[in-house]
Amino acid sequence: MTTTRTQVAIVGAGPSGLLLGQLLHKAGIDAVIVERVSGEYVLGRIRAGILEQVCIDLMDEAGVGARMHKEGLVHDGFEMLFGGQRHRVDLKKYSGGKHVMVYGQTELTHDLMDARAAAGLTTMYEARNAAVHDFDTAKPYVTCEKDGQQHRIDCDFIAGCDGFHGVCRASAPRSAIKEYEKVYPFGWLGLLSDTPPVNYELIYVNSPRGFALCSQRSNTRSRYYLQVPLTDKVEEWSDDAFWQELKLRLDDEAREKIVTGPSIEKSIAPLRSFVTEPMRFGRMFLAGDAAHIVPPTGAKGLNLAATDVKYLFDALVGFYQDKSEAGLDDYSSKALARIWRAERFSWWFTQLMHRFPHDEAITAKFQHAELDYLMHSEAGLTSIAENYVGLPLDFGARRA
Ligand code: APR
Ligand code: PHB
Repeated sequence: MTTTRTQVAIVGAGPSGLLLGQLLHKAGIDAVIVERVSGEYVLGRIRAGILEQVCIDLMDEAGVGARMHKEGLVHDGFEMLFGGQRHRVDLKKYSGGKHVMVYGQTELTHDLMDARAAAGLTTMYEARNAAVHDFDTAKPYVTCEKDGQQHRIDCDFIAGCDGFHGVCRASAPRSAIKEYEKVYPFGWLGLLSDTPPVNYELIYVNSPRGFALCSQRSNTRSRYYLQVPLTDKVEEWSDDAFWQELKLRLDDEAREKIVTGPSIEKSIAPLRSFVTEPMRFGRMFLAGDAAHIVPPTGAKGLNLAATDVKYLFDALVGFYQDKSEAGLDDYSSKALARIWRAERFSWWFTQLMHRFPHDEAITAKFQHAELDYLMHSEAGLTSIAENYVGLPLDFGARRA
């Protein structure tokens, strides 16, 4: 058994764990990250790629924003297509000058990994059987196995950044935890291709054939999605079938303009709303997908993970630099207030844009009437824009 000592043991090297590790390093707080799979495997997962300003600011605070500013695409708006017509949501105008940035989660993860490696910080990749211990005491520790060797990491705090299927949430006492969940009766079939995006801004589509989304990773790489039944298998969807179905859900202009090509990646993701309460168990704190999942409509997953990390980081700095536990005590309620706001928005946007099995004909009419109202009302546009760019970190406090 090899024993090491650190201040914060982080379980999981996804965006949450890596960002927390980098911020802590900048603040002079020592952390070790334990990750179940390899770095290559982490980078192979294709996820969303829309960054809110708070996420952009955090990348800068962590000192890893240079490539993001160079390569990220600033978007001042997006489009909504319904009833054969497109309507633009002017984010800049309706959110008080804010925007979002297109920068893939893969790229963000890459930048964080590179920075961690350059600083010589410890990430134990391919660490098996990670387990969290004694987090209800002042001396928690993490154990794992790597290359046949047993490891023990003694620490002050454990950060559970290990995603939805991780070990940290699963180790919290059942009597202390409450989970809220909604599983949607469809999935998103995503296709990535090295073709120019059909439109500079994203197009969210409510069509009689189901939801579609035209997104992108760069000026030369597109990401498209189709709502599909949960019973569909990705192997049953040829690239041709995908493009054909996508075109059927678009308007004439997009149908004519779209450039199709071979897929680089194609996968089906289920949609789920999920929240764990609380997010603190003694000296173990959950952050990111370990504590909550949003359906992807509105791209809140990564941004919520980033704000959890910001709150947790500030709380840990308060503990180490100011000897204050106030931030740690507030972490769960502060993070959850923001999480529920984003959960509400993602659920609402999902309901508004998708066809649900067994919907009556009147449901599509209600959706259209709501979309029509939103696109023609200053209040409606403001509501959608301020949620899409991300509510301010002090939202509740400002308006209470
Ligand atoms: N031991 C060590 N690592 C683990 C374990 C375990 N038992 N279980 C899971 N992990 C690792 C996973 O392999 C993964 O790399 O934890 C990491 C969690 O990363 P993510 O799932 O990406 O979660 P998070 O870092 O919170 O990022 C949230 O990812 O799913 C998207 O929409 C979400 O964009 C958001 C972001
Ligand atoms: C994506 O590009 O993967 C994406 C963009 C916006 C969303 C969801 C996913 O709302």
